[in-house]
Amino acid sequence: MKLTLNIWRQADSASPGKIHNYELDEVSEDMSFLEMLDVLNEELNAKGEEPIAFDSDCREGICGMCGLMINGEAHGPEVTTTCQLHMRSFKDGDSITVEPWRADAFPVVKDLVVDRGALDRIIAQGGYISVNTGAAPDAHATPVPKDKADRAFEAAACIGCGACVAACPNGSASLFLGAKITHLGELPQGQAERDSRVVNMVGQHDHEGFGGCTNIGECTAACPKEIPLDVISRLNWDLHAALRHGK
Ligand code: SF4
Ligand code: FES
Repeated sequence: MKLTLNIWRQADSASPGKIHNYELDEVSEDMSFLEMLDVLNEELNAKGEEPIAFDSDCREGICGMCGLMINGEAHGPEVTTTCQLHMRSFKDGDSITVEPWRADAFPVVKDLVVDRGALDRIIAQGGYISVNTGAAPDAHATPVPKDKADRAFEAAACIGCGACVAACPNGSASLFLGAKITHLGELPQGQAERDSRVVNMVGQHDHEGFGGCTNIGECTAACPKEIPLDVISRLNWDLHAALRHGK
């Protein structure tokens, strides 16, 4: 395939950025999207030009590091991560625009790399449970009903990629936050800190500059792990309960 790539280039967070155009002549449909960018970077290196900065780590859809706006869609045209998107989703002659996540809470570091540290700081405010150290307890010491285990597992699939924020017109991280609240709040081990967790995590979410949820649903449509929208209902339920309890 021959492709035209329109890629956002920005030296650092303080500099203005703009779209640069590149041509690639030999793109295999079996390449992943990131492998295609690797090929472009090899060509830029060979010409002595600055390669394009982008994030990745596992390249297996697990870590959440990769994340690009591809033709205006978070992670591109398929429901998957950018690293698991393959060039067979495009056709010969296509023009593809690649931009970083756009959200006030995710400042651009360089080119296509954004700082998603705001999500880590939300986790630090309560995305954990406190347990005594010592020998590992028996696996069946704390019974967990099957429906609750399934619901917690579904929410725990969130990899913190930030696509929900990038897709949301309000720049809200409510789907991410709802996934974390649901994951821990469904389990018996998560009850001790349930009230303080939701109050502190929502407080940090708002402090970081993420917007509010207005039930648009772009977040769940863009989510590569198909986190359902109703985790946000659970988030709101827990927050109201905590406030009723005087937290
Ligand atoms: S909820 Fe989905 S889109 Fe949002 S951070 Fe988690 S995995 Fe990514
Ligand atoms: S690089 Fe790890 S999810 Fe894409």
